[in-house]
Amino acid sequence: MRGKLITLEGIDGSGKSTICRLLQDEKRFSGCVFTREPTTSWLGDAVNRALRSDTDHIAELMLFLADHADHISRLIRPSLESGSNVLSDRYSASRCAYQGATLAGLFDEPLDWVRSLHKGWTIDPDLILLFDIDPLVAVKRCGDRGERSKFEKMEFLNKVRSNYLRLAAEEPSRFVVVNADRPLNEVKDEVFKIIAHELEGRE
Ligand code: TYD
Repeated sequence: MRGKLITLEGIDGSGKSTICRLLQDEKRFSGCVFTREPTTSWLGDAVNRALRSDTDHIAELMLFLADHADHISRLIRPSLESGSNVLSDRYSASRCAYQGATLAGLFDEPLDWVRSLHKGWTIDPDLILLFDIDPLVAVKRCGDRGERSKFEKMEFLNKVRSNYLRLAAEEPSRFVVVNADRPLNEVKDEVFKIIAHELEGRE
């Protein structure tokens, strides 16, 4: 039986990566394959280099897509086909939400354009957990990481958040929106429950 693909999404500071680490430590999910985008391959390194420099936004998107294609053929598809469940910290929805925001001045409908570039070759997740939080709270949580002013960062994350919420509204059967503005334990309990339910009888 084919495995299930579950992805975790949300703006920077939503607590998603912390929950991912807790999921990896949980016995119930020890049979899952844990992964992330950008990946830890050389293509993921190239993406991180682009993010740290002043790279053209379309070039950046193409690097993210190359990393995604390699991720699918090298890990996602073989794992699912061998029956393993896969949990990914960020996946295609990150591209639609983030590059949908960075490319906002260049296209009328950047989110739709980015989404269309995935068609025909990507593997859609069975379930997407969206960690939803007000950027004001998220930016405070991150502290000053220094790359942009707080105001610029919040304006950007507001766009990313509304892109995520639009994706969730368009595909309510695939998305679960989790209120991430709560104590970590509450968020963790809810997320563990949702994932255990999705994987029920499969682990
Ligand atoms: P990540 O390393 O997951 O950051 P964090 O652990 O803080 O969530 O991702 C790095 C940045 O890359 C993050 O700001 C989100 C962004 N990103 C995109 O813009 N597009 C994408 O397709 C992905 C996967 C990430």
